[in-house]
Amino acid sequence: MGQPERNDWCLTSNVRSGRRLLVPRYRTLMPGTSFDRVAGIYDETRGGQRRGNNFADDISPWIRGSRVAELGIGTGVIAVGLRRHGFDAIGFDLSLSMMHAAVERVGQRVAAADVDHLPLPDNCIDTTILVWVLQLVADPTHTLREAARVTRPGGRVITVLSVADDHPSDEIAGITTGLRQLRRITRGRDPILEDAPPSLRILHDGFTSWNEFEDSAAKQAGMIERREYSSLFDVDASTWTKVVEPVLAELRSLPEPDRARTRCNRHPLIVWEAT
Ligand SMILES: C[S@@+](CC[C@H](N)C(=O)[O-])C[C@H]1O[C@@H](n2cnc3c(N)ncnc32)[C@H](O)[C@@H]1O
Repeated sequence: MGQPERNDWCLTSNVRSGRRLLVPRYRTLMPGTSFDRVAGIYDETRGGQRRGNNFADDISPWIRGSRVAELGIGTGVIAVGLRRHGFDAIGFDLSLSMMHAAVERVGQRVAAADVDHLPLPDNCIDTTILVWVLQLVADPTHTLREAARVTRPGGRVITVLSVADDHPSDEIAGITTGLRQLRRITRGRDPILEDAPPSLRILHDGFTSWNEFEDSAAKQAGMIERREYSSLFDVDASTWTKVVEPVLAELRSLPEPDRARTRCNRHPLIVWEAT
């Protein structure tokens, strides 16, 4: 934990602006870096501001205090949603392209930092929020410990996990569930709860509200083929053939694959109190 040594920093360029920035060297090693490749299509493919508002509606009743930090802020849609409830979050992320979009949305409240090594002193935040981040880190327990470190005793750590609870009527999810094996099991709800650090006391173990949206089998197949989901970023050729291709074939064999289908899912919402 703590800050990187001076010689652990390196110069990098923002993909869009070309501006040079000094960032921790380990950002080049972390999976979060990969989000540079999907930043341009992230909002249109992940529910955009509508999802940000819906998640913020579910999260905000659990927030305590006014010093709020979002770890892995991405393009800032959750932070914008939180503003509607009167919370002005600061944010951290490793993907410069995602952060570029966040800065455009919420202004200069965003910093390049690894969620495992936050540039913050102990106990300085009232509520720390992580939405769809714990599936990306090397060790979720460590990340939660770091979130607890920066959160004052009595403050809150709130996470929304990426693994969806799909409605049984969701035909597309019934097929793409075959891709779940590509995610690491430690990112699921049960291990996250079981392995949470002792500095966090569980307050709430539930779900976000059900989210309905329009999608098509052909659109999903295209996203999978273009590896637009982080669980597909690094899939090797033989796993692709064995696991991904059958899912693509099944999606494309649905009747009228281009027809808009109503989908419905919700996500685990877990709230802890920092001790
Ligand atoms: C799936 S996106 C979620 C973004 C946002 N919370 C949302 O719900 O729209 C995950 C974000 O976490 C960032 N990320 C992944 N690993 C990270 C790390 N170790 N430190 C900081 N950010 C990280 C990625 O760059 C990406 O922007």
